[in-house]
Amino acid sequence: MLYESPSNRLPSSQNEEGIALYIHWPFCLSKCPYCDFNSFVAKNIPQERFAQALINELRHSAEQQAAVPLNSIYFGGGTPSLMSPSTVEALIDQATQLFRPKDSLEITLEANPTSVEIDRLTTFRKAGVNRVSLGIQSLDPVSLKALGRQHSVAQAIDALTLARKTFPRVSFDLIYAREGQTLSQWEKELHQALTLVNDHLSLYQLTIEEGTVFARQYEKGQITLPDESLSADMLVATQTITNAHGLLNYEVSNYAQAGAESKHNLAYWRYQDYIGIGPGAHGRIRFNQQLYATERIRNPTTWLKATEKQGHGLSVMEPLSPADKAREMLLMGLRLSEGVNATNFAKRCGISLIEAVNEPILKAAIEEDYLHWDQKILRTTSSGRLRLNTLLEALLN
Ligand SMILES: C[S@@+](CC[C@H](N)C(=O)[O-])C[C@H]1O[C@@H](n2cnc3c(N)ncnc32)[C@H](O)[C@@H]1O
Ligand code: SF4
Repeated sequence: MLYESPSNRLPSSQNEEGIALYIHWPFCLSKCPYCDFNSFVAKNIPQERFAQALINELRHSAEQQAAVPLNSIYFGGGTPSLMSPSTVEALIDQATQLFRPKDSLEITLEANPTSVEIDRLTTFRKAGVNRVSLGIQSLDPVSLKALGRQHSVAQAIDALTLARKTFPRVSFDLIYAREGQTLSQWEKELHQALTLVNDHLSLYQLTIEEGTVFARQYEKGQITLPDESLSADMLVATQTITNAHGLLNYEVSNYAQAGAESKHNLAYWRYQDYIGIGPGAHGRIRFNQQLYATERIRNPTTWLKATEKQGHGLSVMEPLSPADKAREMLLMGLRLSEGVNATNFAKRCGISLIEAVNEPILKAAIEEDYLHWDQKILRTTSSGRLRLNTLLEALLN
């Protein structure tokens, strides 16, 4: 059932902290075998209809969130570098008119380093994008092929070089702990990556996601991944090498120079308000002091039709209980090296941090040096972050 618009508005005074805005572009040139993001390969994309539908959703969201300060805009995907630059420009213009943009407004666009997209980087900059996040994935040609990527290592390096000349802030993504990869191969690749780095890097360990080509091959034993001990060694090496290069491991998979952390992604991890528009996008927004989870229709065609008909493609708008919020805030916040602030937690969730966790597990995890707790901040230690999923599962049990 589709959601009916509430008449409640959040007075701007309730949200001086501001919001983050996520815009999802669900199309890609091809589907990578490891990826379970809401992305589709489509030959003829009705760019103008999609642009108008995104603007409709933006206006609808702004009706619900009167003039709140805007901290960040993030064009994610799919492959938003396949969007027409005029659509990106129109969305930035609308967002900055409908909300109150902060002087420090961060506008990120995810880009793939294929030639079509590299040619557009300068136009995206002119449209107002001030940060780009490039999906490089690997600097090894054989691995790029195995990951099903549509670009070469040379194209990736050219894209990075051009991006660094064009944008004040540049990040790129690499995937490691890939099939057959040794520790020393990864260390060598990472050292090479660090010669190309600007101010931010996202380094993900390959995960096998349900429903992907890799998941089917994995089930049949056609691909194997590094075992737990090698993956842990790779993570420790990653932290040591990036730290020595002046990048701080501020989130499990994210590394930045001090002050160059992604403002947008920090909003998710700090569990602040964000609007998500476009097919399948999620949001966390407040009405009358109540936090709601929002979701949009995942299928791009169904989403487009609904948005054209009723001005939005919301499929879910659910109030979150204190227990829901506590769980989500801990799942997010314990990924950050800064941890979770107990005062912010109680204010946001309506229950105390200690009430929200399994206390015997908390005590044991502190004794084992997986967690650190000083009565104000709960954070994972580096050994805690090595086993974060198991730790969270036990703590929230
Ligand atoms: C939205 S996706 C990709 C953005 C862009 N379309 C691209 O391919 O570069 C964001 C990032 O998630 C990472 N990622 C996606 N699936 C992954 C998986 N199964 N394991 C590890 N990292 C993954 C990739 O590094 C990717 O760049
Ligand atoms: S990794 Fe990027 S390009 Fe590949 S399918 Fe996922 S979103 Fe598309």
